[in-house]
Amino acid sequence: MRVLLTGGAGYIGSHTALVLLERGYRVVVLDDFSNSSVEAVRRVEELTGETIPLIEADLAAPGAAAVLSGVDFDAVIHFAGLKAVGESVQQPVRYYRTNLDSTLNLLDLMAERGVAKLVFSSSATVYGDPRYLPQDEQHPVGVGLTNPYGWSKAMNEQIIRDAQAARPELAAALLRYFNPVGAHPSGRIGEDPAGIPNNLMPYIAQVAVGARERLSVFGDGYPTVDGTGVRDYIHVMDLAEGHAAALEHLTSGVTAYNLGSGTGSSVLEVVRAFEAASGRPVPYEIVAPRAGDVAETVADPRKANEELGWRTTRTLAEACRDSWAWQSSNPHGYRAERTA
Ligand code: UD1
Repeated sequence: MRVLLTGGAGYIGSHTALVLLERGYRVVVLDDFSNSSVEAVRRVEELTGETIPLIEADLAAPGAAAVLSGVDFDAVIHFAGLKAVGESVQQPVRYYRTNLDSTLNLLDLMAERGVAKLVFSSSATVYGDPRYLPQDEQHPVGVGLTNPYGWSKAMNEQIIRDAQAARPELAAALLRYFNPVGAHPSGRIGEDPAGIPNNLMPYIAQVAVGARERLSVFGDGYPTVDGTGVRDYIHVMDLAEGHAAALEHLTSGVTAYNLGSGTGSSVLEVVRAFEAASGRPVPYEIVAPRAGDVAETVADPRKANEELGWRTTRTLAEACRDSWAWQSSNPHGYRAERTA
C-alpha cells in the first residue's frame, strides 16, 4: 500500500513515515516546509534505507491537487496544518483558511481519485475543558473551545464526518492525540520548533542544553498532585505506531480514537524525569498560570487498545532520554546541518 502523508516532514509525520516504511508500506510526502525541514525526510531515508518521493506544495492553495496528478496512493494520513495555539488567536483567518482549505482540497482530491482511506491528525484539544477524567471518546467535542486552532480541529472532524455521509465508502479514523513528546531513539529525528518553544518538553530540552536560562512553570495552584498542570504525555514513536494501527484497522465510516497512555504527569514530574535522563539541571521558576490552560487532561485509551490492538509501550523516562538524545546532538534542530 502506498500512503500519502500530508505534512509528512513535520514532527509526527516524519516519525510516522519511518514506522510505515519499517512495516513495508511505501510513502509519499507532501509538505510546504512552512514549519518543517526537508532534512527530516532525508534522515528518515537514511534510517530506513528507503527513498521517499517528496512533493513541495501547499495543500490549502487553490489548484493544489494538480501537483499530485502523476502520484498514485491508496490511503492518506493528513497531518498538514498550523498548530500554534497562541498564534491561532492572533491570526484566526490564516489558521481557518490553512487548516480547513487543506482538508477540503484533500477530500475533493480523494473523491476524484477514488481514494477512500483517511487517517486524520486530530487532537484532544477538541474536548475543551474536561468535564470528567479520564476523557473517553464520548466526551463532548467542540464545546467552549478557547482558540481557533482547537476549533479548526473540531471543524475538520465534522467536515470529514459530513464528507463520509455523502460518500459512504470513505473510511476515516480521527486520531485525538494527547501530548506528543520524545523522539526516535537514534536522536536523528525529533521535534524542531521554530523560535521559542510553546510546549513543555522542547522548552525543557532547550534549558537542559543551555540554550535557555530557565523554565517558566505556568502556575502551581492547580488541584493536582503538586499544584502544577497534569498532562498525558505520549512518546512520539508510540503515536507513530498508533497511525500504522489505525491504517491497518480502517473500516468504512468515521471512528475517533484517543491516542494517549492513560497516565498523567505533572510539570514538575516531567522536569525531574528530564533531569534524570539528561544528567543536567533544569532550573525553573513558578510564574502565573497561562491563559486557556486546564489543570489536568488524561486519556482513556481503551477504545484504541481494544479496537486497534495498540497501546503505548514507552515510558516518560524513555521519552526524556530520546528527547535529550535528539536535543543534545542537534542543539539547533535541523538547521545546523543545513547551514554547515
Ligand atoms: C498544547 C495546546 C494543545 C495542543 C498541544 C500540542 C494549549 C492550551 N494547548 O497543549 O491544544 O494540541 O499543545 O502539543 O496551548 N508548561 C509550563 N511551561 C512551559 C510550557 C508548558 O509550565 O513553558 C505547562 C503547561 O501549563 C501545561 C503543560 O506544561 O500544564 C503542558 O503544556 P504544553 O506542552 O504547552 O501542552 P498543552 O498546553 O497541554
